[in-house]
Amino acid sequence: MTGSDIRKKFLDYFKENGHTVVRSSSLVPDDPSVLLTTAGMQQFKRYYTGELDAMKDFGAKSTASVQKSFRTSDIDEVGDESHLTFFEMLGNFSFGGYFKEEAIKYGYEFITKVMGLPIDYVSVFDPEQVREGDWRKGVPRDDESRAIWEKIGVKDIRAEGVDVFWGPTGSEGPCGPTTEIYVKSAEGKSLEVWNIVFNEFYRDPAMKLTKLKTPGVDTGMGLERLAMVSQRTPTIFETDLFAPLMKLLPGNLSERTRRILADHVRGIAFLLSDGVRPSNKEAGYVLRRLMRRLVTHLHLAGNPVDPAHLFAEVNEHYEKFYPELNAEIILEEWNAERARFEKTLSVGLRELSKIDSLDAKGAFMLFESCGLPYEVLKELGGTKASKLAREEFDKEFEKHQEISRAGAVKKFGGHGLILDTGELKAGSEEELKKVTRLHTATHLLQRALREVLGSEVSQRGSDITPERTRFDFSFPRKVEKEELRQVEELVNEKIKEDLPVQFKEMPKEEAEKTGALYFFKEKYPDRVKVYFVGRSLENAWSKEFCGGPHVTHTGEIGRVKIAKEEAVGAGVRRIRATLEAA
Ligand code: ALA
Repeated sequence: MTGSDIRKKFLDYFKENGHTVVRSSSLVPDDPSVLLTTAGMQQFKRYYTGELDAMKDFGAKSTASVQKSFRTSDIDEVGDESHLTFFEMLGNFSFGGYFKEEAIKYGYEFITKVMGLPIDYVSVFDPEQVREGDWRKGVPRDDESRAIWEKIGVKDIRAEGVDVFWGPTGSEGPCGPTTEIYVKSAEGKSLEVWNIVFNEFYRDPAMKLTKLKTPGVDTGMGLERLAMVSQRTPTIFETDLFAPLMKLLPGNLSERTRRILADHVRGIAFLLSDGVRPSNKEAGYVLRRLMRRLVTHLHLAGNPVDPAHLFAEVNEHYEKFYPELNAEIILEEWNAERARFEKTLSVGLRELSKIDSLDAKGAFMLFESCGLPYEVLKELGGTKASKLAREEFDKEFEKHQEISRAGAVKKFGGHGLILDTGELKAGSEEELKKVTRLHTATHLLQRALREVLGSEVSQRGSDITPERTRFDFSFPRKVEKEELRQVEELVNEKIKEDLPVQFKEMPKEEAEKTGALYFFKEKYPDRVKVYFVGRSLENAWSKEFCGGPHVTHTGEIGRVKIAKEEAVGAGVRRIRATLEAA
Protein backbone atom coordinates (compact mmCIF):
# COMPACT_ATOMS: atom_id res chain seq x y z
CA MET A 1 0.00 0.00 0.00
CA THR A 2 1.33 3.43 -0.90
CA GLY A 3 1.03 6.39 1.45
CA SER A 4 -2.00 7.65 -0.46
CA ASP A 5 -3.62 4.19 -0.34
CA ILE A 6 -3.23 4.19 3.43
CA ARG A 7 -4.69 7.68 3.84
CA LYS A 8 -7.70 6.62 1.80
CA LYS A 9 -8.16 3.27 3.55
CA PHE A 10 -8.03 5.02 6.91
CA LEU A 11 -10.55 7.72 6.10
CA ASP A 12 -12.86 5.26 4.31
CA TYR A 13 -12.78 2.85 7.21
CA PHE A 14 -13.79 5.49 9.72
CA LYS A 15 -16.35 7.02 7.40
CA GLU A 16 -18.01 3.60 7.09
CA ASN A 17 -18.05 3.52 10.87
CA GLY A 18 -19.99 6.75 11.27
CA HIS A 19 -17.18 9.32 11.42
CA THR A 20 -17.24 12.65 9.60
CA VAL A 21 -14.02 13.21 7.68
CA VAL A 22 -12.48 16.61 8.46
CA ARG A 23 -9.66 18.31 6.57
CA SER A 24 -6.31 18.87 8.20
CA SER A 25 -6.11 22.20 10.00
CA SER A 26 -3.17 24.54 9.52
CA LEU A 27 0.21 23.86 11.12
CA VAL A 28 -0.31 27.23 12.79
CA PRO A 29 -2.89 26.50 15.45
CA ASP A 30 -5.76 28.65 16.62
CA ASP A 31 -4.51 28.18 20.16
CA PRO A 32 -2.04 30.57 21.76
CA SER A 33 -0.81 27.93 24.20
CA VAL A 34 1.07 26.00 21.50
CA LEU A 35 3.46 27.13 18.77
CA LEU A 36 2.62 24.60 16.09
CA THR A 37 0.05 21.88 15.56
CA THR A 38 1.45 18.72 17.11
CA ALA A 39 -1.53 16.39 16.84
CA GLY A 40 -4.87 15.77 15.16
CA MET A 41 -6.82 16.54 18.31
CA GLN A 42 -5.69 20.12 18.43
CA GLN A 43 -8.33 21.52 16.09
CA PHE A 44 -10.96 19.67 18.14
CA LYS A 45 -9.90 20.81 21.61
CA ARG A 46 -13.07 22.83 22.20
CA TYR A 47 -15.30 19.86 21.35
CA TYR A 48 -13.73 17.88 24.18
CA THR A 49 -14.34 20.64 26.69
CA GLY A 50 -17.92 21.07 25.54
CA GLU A 51 -17.41 24.67 24.38
CA LEU A 52 -18.39 23.62 20.86
CA ASP A 53 -20.92 21.06 19.72
CA ALA A 54 -19.70 18.36 17.30
CA MET A 55 -23.23 17.27 16.44
CA LYS A 56 -23.98 20.78 15.23
CA ASP A 57 -20.75 21.30 13.32
CA PHE A 58 -20.07 17.81 11.94
CA GLY A 59 -23.45 16.11 12.17
CA ALA A 60 -21.78 13.37 14.21
CA LYS A 61 -20.10 12.87 17.56
CA SER A 62 -17.01 11.44 15.90
CA THR A 63 -14.57 12.61 13.25
CA ALA A 64 -11.48 11.34 11.44
CA SER A 65 -8.64 13.25 9.81
CA VAL A 66 -5.18 13.17 8.34
CA GLN A 67 -3.49 16.05 10.13
CA LYS A 68 -0.30 17.90 9.24
CA SER A 69 1.73 17.82 12.43
CA PHE A 70 5.04 19.22 13.58
CA ARG A 71 7.07 18.20 16.62
CA THR A 72 10.00 20.41 17.43
CA SER A 73 10.64 18.23 20.46
CA ASP A 74 11.69 15.35 18.19
CA ILE A 75 14.27 17.35 16.24
CA ASP A 76 17.26 15.67 17.89
CA GLU A 77 15.85 12.23 17.12
CA VAL A 78 15.49 12.86 13.40
CA GLY A 79 17.97 10.74 11.49
CA ASP A 80 17.11 7.42 13.15
CA GLU A 81 14.72 5.01 11.46
CA SER A 82 11.39 6.53 12.44
CA HIS A 83 11.46 10.06 13.91
CA LEU A 84 10.43 13.21 12.06
CA THR A 85 9.67 16.86 12.75
CA PHE A 86 6.91 17.19 10.16
CA PHE A 87 4.64 14.19 9.69
CA GLU A 88 1.08 13.26 8.87
CA MET A 89 -1.10 11.97 11.68
CA LEU A 90 -4.03 9.69 11.03
CA GLY A 91 -6.60 10.08 13.77
CA ASN A 92 -10.13 9.26 14.83
CA PHE A 93 -11.92 11.28 17.49
CA SER A 94 -15.01 10.93 19.62
CA PHE A 95 -16.56 13.76 21.59
CA GLY A 96 -18.86 12.18 24.09
CA GLY A 97 -19.78 9.43 21.60
CA TYR A 98 -18.10 6.02 21.75
CA PHE A 99 -15.42 5.34 24.32
CA LYS A 100 -12.86 2.64 25.21
CA GLU A 101 -14.63 -0.46 23.94
CA GLU A 102 -15.24 0.78 20.38
CA ALA A 103 -12.03 2.76 20.12
CA ILE A 104 -9.91 -0.28 20.90
CA LYS A 105 -11.95 -2.45 18.54
CA TYR A 106 -11.53 0.04 15.71
CA GLY A 107 -7.79 0.14 16.35
CA TYR A 108 -7.56 -3.64 16.38
CA GLU A 109 -9.69 -4.11 13.29
CA PHE A 110 -7.96 -1.45 11.22
CA ILE A 111 -4.45 -2.74 11.98
CA THR A 112 -5.12 -6.46 11.70
CA LYS A 113 -7.91 -6.63 9.09
CA VAL A 114 -7.63 -3.54 6.90
CA MET A 115 -3.83 -3.29 7.01
CA GLY A 116 -3.30 -7.02 7.53
CA LEU A 117 -0.59 -6.44 10.14
CA PRO A 118 -0.12 -8.58 13.25
CA ILE A 119 -0.04 -6.68 16.56
CA ASP A 120 3.17 -7.30 18.49
CA TYR A 121 2.00 -5.94 21.83
CA VAL A 122 -0.09 -3.18 23.39
CA SER A 123 0.52 -0.97 26.44
CA VAL A 124 -1.88 0.29 29.11
CA PHE A 125 -1.54 2.88 31.87
CA ASP A 126 -0.50 1.86 35.37
CA PRO A 127 0.41 4.52 37.98
CA GLU A 128 2.75 1.97 39.64
CA GLN A 129 5.13 2.74 36.76
CA VAL A 130 5.05 6.50 37.46
CA ARG A 131 7.69 7.96 39.74
CA GLU A 132 6.86 9.51 43.11
CA GLY A 133 6.03 13.20 42.94
CA ASP A 134 4.80 13.18 39.33
CA TRP A 135 1.27 14.61 39.01
CA ARG A 136 0.19 11.49 37.09
CA LYS A 137 0.92 9.26 40.08
CA GLY A 138 -2.59 9.90 41.36
CA VAL A 139 -4.40 8.78 38.20
CA PRO A 140 -6.26 5.44 38.54
CA ARG A 141 -4.99 2.32 36.71
CA ASP A 142 -6.67 1.69 33.37
CA ASP A 143 -8.08 -1.79 34.02
CA GLU A 144 -10.89 -1.25 31.56
CA SER A 145 -8.58 -1.05 28.54
CA ARG A 146 -6.68 -4.13 29.69
CA ALA A 147 -9.93 -6.10 29.95
CA ILE A 148 -11.01 -5.06 26.45
CA TRP A 149 -7.68 -6.14 24.92
CA GLU A 150 -7.88 -9.45 26.79
CA LYS A 151 -11.37 -10.07 25.47
CA ILE A 152 -10.22 -9.41 21.90
CA GLY A 153 -7.48 -11.97 22.44
CA VAL A 154 -4.32 -9.84 22.40
CA LYS A 155 -1.79 -11.74 24.52
CA ASP A 156 1.00 -9.30 25.22
CA ILE A 157 -0.38 -6.39 27.28
CA ARG A 158 2.24 -4.30 29.06
CA ALA A 159 1.81 -1.91 31.99
CA GLU A 160 3.53 1.43 31.41
CA GLY A 161 3.77 4.82 33.09
CA VAL A 162 3.96 8.42 31.88
CA ASP A 163 4.52 7.33 28.26
CA VAL A 164 0.94 6.16 28.19
CA PHE A 165 -0.65 9.24 29.66
CA TRP A 166 -1.36 12.04 27.23
CA GLY A 167 -1.70 15.79 27.36
CA PRO A 168 -2.58 18.45 27.96
CA THR A 169 -1.05 20.17 24.93
CA GLY A 170 -0.74 23.58 26.63
CA SER A 171 -0.74 24.74 30.22
CA GLU A 172 -4.21 23.31 30.63
CA GLY A 173 -6.65 21.10 28.76
CA PRO A 174 -8.08 17.62 28.30
CA CYS A 175 -5.85 14.64 29.15
CA GLY A 176 -6.03 10.97 30.05
CA PRO A 177 -4.60 7.45 29.87
CA THR A 178 -3.72 5.96 26.50
CA THR A 179 -3.26 2.54 25.05
CA GLU A 180 -0.63 2.08 22.35
CA ILE A 181 -0.37 -0.48 19.56
CA TYR A 182 3.06 -1.85 18.63
CA VAL A 183 3.83 -3.62 15.36
CA LYS A 184 7.09 -5.34 14.39
CA SER A 185 9.14 -3.72 11.66
CA ALA A 186 10.80 -5.66 8.83
CA GLU A 187 13.97 -5.62 10.93
CA GLY A 188 12.16 -7.27 13.82
CA LYS A 189 12.05 -4.14 15.98
CA SER A 190 8.84 -3.23 17.84
CA LEU A 191 7.49 0.09 16.67
CA GLU A 192 4.75 2.14 18.30
CA VAL A 193 2.31 2.91 15.51
CA TRP A 194 -0.90 4.01 17.19
CA ASN A 195 -1.68 5.96 20.28
CA ILE A 196 -5.28 5.78 21.47
CA VAL A 197 -6.00 8.42 24.09
CA PHE A 198 -8.96 8.41 26.42
CA ASN A 199 -9.66 11.96 27.44
CA GLU A 200 -11.25 11.48 30.80
CA PHE A 201 -9.87 14.47 32.68
CA TYR A 202 -9.28 18.19 32.45
CA ARG A 203 -6.07 19.51 33.94
CA ASP A 204 -6.00 23.15 35.05
CA PRO A 205 -2.80 25.26 35.17
CA ALA A 206 -2.37 24.32 38.85
CA MET A 207 -2.15 20.61 37.82
CA LYS A 208 -5.50 19.80 39.34
CA LEU A 209 -7.46 17.04 37.57
CA THR A 210 -11.22 17.00 37.25
CA LYS A 211 -13.34 14.43 35.41
CA LEU A 212 -14.63 15.68 32.06
CA LYS A 213 -18.39 15.78 31.75
CA THR A 214 -18.23 13.98 28.42
CA PRO A 215 -15.16 11.77 28.03
CA GLY A 216 -13.68 11.54 24.57
CA VAL A 217 -11.36 9.56 22.35
CA ASP A 218 -8.35 11.03 20.55
CA THR A 219 -6.08 8.82 18.51
CA GLY A 220 -2.94 9.41 16.50
CA MET A 221 -1.01 7.19 14.14
CA GLY A 222 1.97 8.40 12.12
CA LEU A 223 1.36 7.76 8.44
CA GLU A 224 5.09 7.40 7.72
CA ARG A 225 5.55 4.73 10.39
CA LEU A 226 2.51 2.82 9.28
CA ALA A 227 3.82 2.92 5.70
CA MET A 228 7.17 1.62 6.96
CA VAL A 229 5.71 -1.46 8.64
CA SER A 230 3.23 -2.03 5.85
CA GLN A 231 5.78 -1.66 3.04
CA ARG A 232 8.29 -3.67 5.09
CA THR A 233 11.09 -1.17 4.64
CA PRO A 234 13.94 -0.92 7.19
CA THR A 235 13.22 2.77 7.90
CA ILE A 236 10.60 5.36 6.97
CA PHE A 237 13.04 6.80 4.44
CA GLU A 238 12.63 3.90 2.00
CA THR A 239 8.84 4.18 1.93
CA ASP A 240 7.20 5.75 -1.10
CA LEU A 241 6.68 8.88 1.03
CA PHE A 242 10.42 9.53 1.20
CA ALA A 243 12.24 7.43 -1.39
CA PRO A 244 11.97 9.93 -4.29
CA LEU A 245 13.26 12.74 -2.07
CA MET A 246 16.11 10.63 -0.69
CA LYS A 247 17.17 9.79 -4.24
CA LEU A 248 17.71 13.46 -4.98
CA LEU A 249 20.02 13.93 -2.00
CA PRO A 250 23.68 13.45 -2.83
CA GLY A 251 25.46 10.27 -1.81
CA ASN A 252 28.48 12.11 -0.42
CA LEU A 253 26.41 13.13 2.57
CA SER A 254 26.08 10.66 5.44
CA GLU A 255 22.90 8.60 5.61
CA ARG A 256 21.88 10.42 8.80
CA THR A 257 22.35 13.82 7.20
CA ARG A 258 20.36 12.81 4.14
CA ARG A 259 17.48 11.74 6.36
CA ILE A 260 17.62 14.98 8.32
CA LEU A 261 17.58 17.02 5.14
CA ALA A 262 14.70 15.02 3.66
CA ASP A 263 12.75 15.65 6.85
CA HIS A 264 13.60 19.35 6.83
CA VAL A 265 12.70 19.87 3.17
CA ARG A 266 9.18 18.66 3.86
CA GLY A 267 8.94 20.67 7.07
CA ILE A 268 10.08 23.86 5.34
CA ALA A 269 7.62 23.41 2.46
CA PHE A 270 4.64 22.85 4.73
CA LEU A 271 5.48 25.53 7.29
CA LEU A 272 5.97 28.17 4.61
CA SER A 273 2.75 27.18 2.87
CA ASP A 274 0.86 27.64 6.12
CA GLY A 275 2.14 31.18 6.47
CA VAL A 276 5.12 30.76 8.81
CA ARG A 277 8.09 32.98 7.90
CA PRO A 278 11.68 32.59 9.12
CA SER A 279 12.45 34.81 12.11
CA ASN A 280 14.10 34.72 15.50
CA LYS A 281 11.03 33.93 17.48
CA GLU A 282 8.44 31.25 17.99
CA ALA A 283 7.37 29.25 14.94
CA GLY A 284 9.50 31.46 12.71
CA TYR A 285 12.57 30.46 14.69
CA VAL A 286 11.78 26.76 14.28
CA LEU A 287 11.47 27.27 10.53
CA ARG A 288 14.67 29.29 10.36
CA ARG A 289 16.61 26.49 12.01
CA LEU A 290 15.38 23.94 9.48
CA MET A 291 16.22 26.25 6.59
CA ARG A 292 19.70 27.08 7.86
CA ARG A 293 20.55 23.48 8.55
CA LEU A 294 19.64 22.65 4.98
CA VAL A 295 21.67 25.59 3.60
CA THR A 296 24.72 24.60 5.67
CA HIS A 297 24.80 20.92 4.72
CA LEU A 298 24.28 21.61 1.05
CA HIS A 299 26.96 24.31 1.18
CA LEU A 300 29.48 21.96 2.83
CA ALA A 301 28.72 19.27 0.28
CA GLY A 302 29.48 21.76 -2.50
CA ASN A 303 25.83 22.45 -3.34
CA PRO A 304 25.46 19.24 -5.35
CA VAL A 305 21.70 19.62 -5.75
CA ASP A 306 19.47 22.58 -6.46
CA PRO A 307 17.04 22.77 -3.52
CA ALA A 308 14.38 23.89 -6.00
CA HIS A 309 14.28 20.28 -7.20
CA LEU A 310 13.78 19.04 -3.66
CA PHE A 311 10.86 21.38 -3.09
CA ALA A 312 9.41 20.54 -6.49
CA GLU A 313 9.43 16.88 -5.48
CA VAL A 314 7.53 17.67 -2.27
CA ASN A 315 4.99 19.72 -4.19
CA GLU A 316 4.45 17.08 -6.79
CA HIS A 317 4.06 14.34 -4.25
CA TYR A 318 1.75 16.14 -1.86
CA GLU A 319 -0.19 18.83 -3.70
CA LYS A 320 -3.11 16.56 -4.53
CA PHE A 321 -3.82 15.95 -0.90
CA TYR A 322 -2.61 19.35 0.33
CA PRO A 323 -3.56 21.95 -2.29
CA GLU A 324 -2.31 24.70 0.03
CA LEU A 325 1.29 23.83 -0.87
CA ASN A 326 2.56 26.93 -2.59
CA ALA A 327 5.57 26.34 -4.82
CA GLU A 328 6.07 30.02 -5.53
CA ILE A 329 6.14 31.17 -1.92
CA ILE A 330 8.34 28.27 -0.88
CA LEU A 331 11.00 29.18 -3.43
CA GLU A 332 10.78 32.90 -2.86
CA GLU A 333 11.15 32.57 0.92
CA TRP A 334 13.81 29.89 0.60
CA ASN A 335 15.93 32.03 -1.68
CA ALA A 336 15.57 35.08 0.57
CA GLU A 337 16.56 33.19 3.71
CA ARG A 338 19.45 31.48 1.95
CA ALA A 339 20.75 34.82 0.69
CA ARG A 340 20.53 36.32 4.20
CA PHE A 341 22.31 33.39 5.78
CA GLU A 342 24.98 32.83 3.15
CA LYS A 343 26.41 36.27 3.87
CA THR A 344 27.50 35.14 7.32
CA LEU A 345 27.74 31.39 6.92
CA SER A 346 31.38 31.28 5.80
CA VAL A 347 32.42 33.73 8.50
CA GLY A 348 30.62 31.58 11.05
CA LEU A 349 32.26 28.40 9.83
CA ARG A 350 35.67 30.07 9.96
CA GLU A 351 35.06 31.32 13.51
CA LEU A 352 33.96 27.86 14.51
CA SER A 353 37.15 26.33 13.15
CA LYS A 354 39.23 28.72 15.25
CA ILE A 355 37.55 27.90 18.55
CA ASP A 356 38.95 25.09 20.72
CA SER A 357 35.83 24.25 22.59
CA LEU A 358 32.26 25.38 22.32
CA ASP A 359 29.96 25.99 25.28
CA ALA A 360 26.45 27.38 25.33
CA LYS A 361 27.56 31.00 25.63
CA GLY A 362 30.01 30.72 22.74
CA ALA A 363 27.45 28.89 20.65
CA PHE A 364 24.86 31.54 21.29
CA MET A 365 27.34 34.24 20.32
CA LEU A 366 27.92 32.47 17.02
CA PHE A 367 24.18 32.29 16.49
CA GLU A 368 23.83 35.98 17.28
CA SER A 369 26.69 37.14 15.09
CA CYS A 370 26.60 34.71 12.18
CA GLY A 371 23.21 33.03 12.41
CA LEU A 372 24.52 29.48 12.86
CA PRO A 373 21.75 27.58 14.62
CA TYR A 374 22.29 25.16 17.50
CA GLU A 375 21.85 22.02 15.38
CA VAL A 376 24.50 23.11 12.93
CA LEU A 377 26.97 24.08 15.66
CA LYS A 378 26.44 20.80 17.44
CA GLU A 379 26.89 18.78 14.25
CA LEU A 380 29.85 20.65 12.80
CA GLY A 381 31.51 21.35 16.13
CA GLY A 382 32.29 17.63 16.54
CA THR A 383 34.32 16.93 19.66
CA LYS A 384 34.69 20.67 20.33
CA ALA A 385 30.96 20.79 20.90
CA SER A 386 30.70 17.56 22.86
CA LYS A 387 29.77 19.46 26.02
CA LEU A 388 27.31 21.74 24.25
CA ALA A 389 23.77 20.90 25.38
CA ARG A 390 20.52 22.09 23.88
CA GLU A 391 19.08 22.99 27.26
CA GLU A 392 21.95 25.34 28.07
CA PHE A 393 21.79 26.91 24.65
CA ASP A 394 18.04 27.44 24.99
CA LYS A 395 18.66 29.16 28.31
CA GLU A 396 21.05 31.60 26.67
CA PHE A 397 18.49 32.17 23.95
CA GLU A 398 15.72 32.86 26.42
CA LYS A 399 17.90 35.22 28.41
CA HIS A 400 18.44 37.22 25.28
CA GLN A 401 14.75 37.25 24.42
CA GLU A 402 14.00 38.45 27.91
CA ILE A 403 16.37 41.36 27.48
CA SER A 404 14.92 42.39 24.15
CA ARG A 405 11.43 42.08 25.52
CA ALA A 406 12.14 43.91 28.75
CA GLY A 407 10.29 47.02 27.62
CA ALA A 408 7.06 45.22 26.91
CA VAL A 409 7.35 43.07 29.99
CA LYS A 410 7.65 46.01 32.32
CA LYS A 411 4.31 47.22 31.15
CA PHE A 412 2.78 44.01 32.41
CA GLY A 413 4.23 44.12 35.89
CA GLY A 414 7.40 42.16 35.29
CA HIS A 415 6.15 38.80 34.11
CA GLY A 416 6.71 37.27 30.68
CA LEU A 417 4.27 37.48 27.81
CA ILE A 418 2.38 34.33 26.92
CA LEU A 419 0.72 35.91 23.94
CA ASP A 420 2.02 38.60 21.66
CA THR A 421 0.49 38.65 18.22
CA GLY A 422 1.47 42.25 17.66
CA GLU A 423 -2.17 43.17 18.10
CA LEU A 424 -2.89 41.26 21.31
CA LYS A 425 -0.70 41.06 24.37
CA ALA A 426 -1.20 39.01 27.52
CA GLY A 427 1.10 37.96 30.33
CA SER A 428 -1.00 35.36 32.13
CA GLU A 429 -3.96 33.06 31.60
CA GLU A 430 -6.11 35.66 33.33
CA GLU A 431 -4.98 38.41 30.97
CA LEU A 432 -5.33 36.08 28.01
CA LYS A 433 -9.02 35.70 28.84
CA LYS A 434 -9.44 39.48 28.99
CA VAL A 435 -7.67 40.24 25.72
CA THR A 436 -9.60 37.44 24.03
CA ARG A 437 -12.90 39.03 25.10
CA LEU A 438 -11.69 42.46 24.00
CA HIS A 439 -10.56 41.02 20.69
CA THR A 440 -14.01 39.72 19.79
CA ALA A 441 -15.43 43.02 21.05
CA THR A 442 -13.14 44.79 18.56
CA HIS A 443 -14.63 42.82 15.67
CA LEU A 444 -18.12 43.78 16.84
CA LEU A 445 -17.02 47.38 17.16
CA GLN A 446 -15.74 47.58 13.60
CA ARG A 447 -18.93 46.04 12.29
CA ALA A 448 -21.13 48.41 14.32
CA LEU A 449 -19.13 51.44 13.19
CA ARG A 450 -19.76 50.46 9.58
CA GLU A 451 -23.46 50.03 10.30
CA VAL A 452 -23.80 53.44 11.92
CA LEU A 453 -21.24 55.50 9.95
CA GLY A 454 -21.15 53.66 6.64
CA SER A 455 -18.76 51.40 4.79
CA GLU A 456 -16.04 54.04 4.44
CA VAL A 457 -14.99 52.95 7.90
CA SER A 458 -12.07 50.59 7.58
CA GLN A 459 -9.44 49.41 9.99
CA ARG A 460 -6.14 51.25 10.18
CA GLY A 461 -4.73 49.47 13.20
CA SER A 462 -5.57 48.02 16.56
CA ASP A 463 -3.87 47.31 19.84
CA ILE A 464 -5.34 45.26 22.63
CA THR A 465 -4.15 44.98 26.22
CA PRO A 466 -5.98 43.39 29.18
CA GLU A 467 -7.29 46.86 30.09
CA ARG A 468 -8.70 48.12 26.81
CA THR A 469 -8.90 47.85 23.06
CA ARG A 470 -7.70 50.67 20.86
CA PHE A 471 -9.10 50.69 17.36
CA ASP A 472 -8.00 53.06 14.57
CA PHE A 473 -10.12 53.48 11.48
CA SER A 474 -10.50 55.72 8.49
CA PHE A 475 -13.27 58.34 8.80
CA PRO A 476 -13.20 61.98 7.67
CA ARG A 477 -14.75 63.73 10.66
CA LYS A 478 -15.40 63.53 14.37
CA VAL A 479 -17.87 60.86 15.39
CA GLU A 480 -20.81 62.48 17.18
CA LYS A 481 -21.81 61.54 20.72
CA GLU A 482 -25.14 60.20 19.53
CA GLU A 483 -23.42 58.04 16.89
CA LEU A 484 -21.06 56.64 19.49
CA ARG A 485 -24.04 55.80 21.68
CA GLN A 486 -25.67 53.93 18.79
CA VAL A 487 -22.46 52.00 18.07
CA GLU A 488 -22.09 51.03 21.70
CA GLU A 489 -25.72 49.95 21.91
CA LEU A 490 -25.47 47.84 18.76
CA VAL A 491 -22.35 46.06 20.03
CA ASN A 492 -24.03 45.31 23.35
CA GLU A 493 -27.14 44.05 21.60
CA LYS A 494 -25.05 41.52 19.66
CA ILE A 495 -23.40 40.48 22.91
CA LYS A 496 -26.79 39.90 24.50
CA GLU A 497 -27.82 37.70 21.58
CA ASP A 498 -24.97 35.38 22.64
CA LEU A 499 -24.04 34.60 19.04
CA PRO A 500 -21.50 31.84 18.32
CA VAL A 501 -18.04 32.92 17.18
CA GLN A 502 -16.41 30.50 14.79
CA PHE A 503 -13.85 30.40 12.03
CA LYS A 504 -13.48 28.70 8.70
CA GLU A 505 -10.16 28.22 6.99
CA MET A 506 -10.01 28.62 3.22
CA PRO A 507 -7.94 29.87 0.30
CA LYS A 508 -7.49 33.64 0.32
CA GLU A 509 -9.40 34.23 -2.93
CA GLU A 510 -12.34 32.30 -1.62
CA ALA A 511 -12.21 34.20 1.66
CA GLU A 512 -12.27 37.52 -0.17
CA LYS A 513 -15.45 36.45 -1.91
CA THR A 514 -17.24 35.88 1.40
CA GLY A 515 -17.18 39.63 1.94
CA ALA A 516 -15.07 39.26 5.06
CA LEU A 517 -13.20 42.42 6.10
CA TYR A 518 -9.44 42.40 6.10
CA PHE A 519 -6.76 44.76 7.17
CA PHE A 520 -5.12 46.10 4.03
CA LYS A 521 -1.72 46.56 5.64
CA GLU A 522 -1.32 42.92 6.54
CA LYS A 523 0.30 40.33 4.28
CA TYR A 524 -1.99 37.33 4.41
CA PRO A 525 -0.91 33.76 3.63
CA ASP A 526 -2.63 31.81 0.85
CA ARG A 527 -4.93 30.10 3.28
CA VAL A 528 -6.61 32.31 5.81
CA LYS A 529 -9.07 31.97 8.63
CA VAL A 530 -12.32 33.87 8.43
CA TYR A 531 -13.75 34.50 11.87
CA PHE A 532 -17.47 35.07 11.86
CA VAL A 533 -20.06 36.04 14.43
CA GLY A 534 -23.36 34.30 13.83
CA ARG A 535 -24.73 30.86 13.13
CA SER A 536 -23.38 30.45 9.63
CA LEU A 537 -20.72 32.14 7.55
CA GLU A 538 -23.27 33.20 4.92
CA ASN A 539 -25.54 34.98 7.37
CA ALA A 540 -22.88 36.10 9.80
CA TRP A 541 -23.20 39.60 11.25
CA SER A 542 -19.46 40.13 11.32
CA LYS A 543 -16.76 38.47 9.20
CA GLU A 544 -13.05 39.21 9.28
CA PHE A 545 -9.76 37.67 8.23
CA CYS A 546 -8.17 36.91 11.56
CA GLY A 547 -5.85 34.55 13.39
CA GLY A 548 -7.78 34.59 16.68
CA PRO A 549 -8.07 33.91 19.53
CA HIS A 550 -11.74 34.71 20.15
CA VAL A 551 -14.44 33.80 22.65
CA THR A 552 -16.80 31.01 21.57
CA HIS A 553 -19.99 33.05 22.17
CA THR A 554 -20.45 36.80 22.28
CA GLY A 555 -22.17 36.53 25.67
CA GLU A 556 -18.77 35.87 27.25
CA ILE A 557 -17.62 39.39 26.43
CA GLY A 558 -19.58 41.29 29.07
CA ARG A 559 -20.62 44.91 28.47
CA VAL A 560 -18.59 47.08 26.13
CA LYS A 561 -18.08 50.73 26.95
CA ILE A 562 -16.65 53.26 24.53
CA ALA A 563 -14.29 55.36 26.62
CA LYS A 564 -12.91 57.87 24.15
CA GLU A 565 -12.97 58.98 20.53
CA GLU A 566 -10.27 61.19 19.03
CA ALA A 567 -8.32 62.03 15.89
CA VAL A 568 -4.91 60.48 15.35
CA GLY A 569 -4.17 61.84 11.89
CA ALA A 570 -5.85 63.22 8.80
CA GLY A 571 -8.91 61.10 8.19
CA VAL A 572 -8.05 58.60 10.92
CA ARG A 573 -10.00 58.30 14.16
CA ARG A 574 -9.23 56.29 17.27
CA ILE A 575 -11.64 54.67 19.67
CA ARG A 576 -10.77 53.21 23.04
CA ALA A 577 -13.20 50.78 24.59
CA THR A 578 -13.20 48.85 27.85
CA LEU A 579 -15.20 45.98 29.29
CA GLU A 580 -17.49 45.78 32.25
CA ALA A 581 -17.61 42.30 33.79
CA ALA A 582 -19.63 39.58 32.02
N1 ALA B 1 -2.98 13.14 20.50
C1 ALA B 1 -2.37 11.86 20.62
C2 ALA B 1 -0.95 11.84 20.16
O1 ALA B 1 -0.51 12.80 19.61
C3 ALA B 1 -3.17 10.84 19.91
O2 ALA B 1 -0.26 10.88 20.32
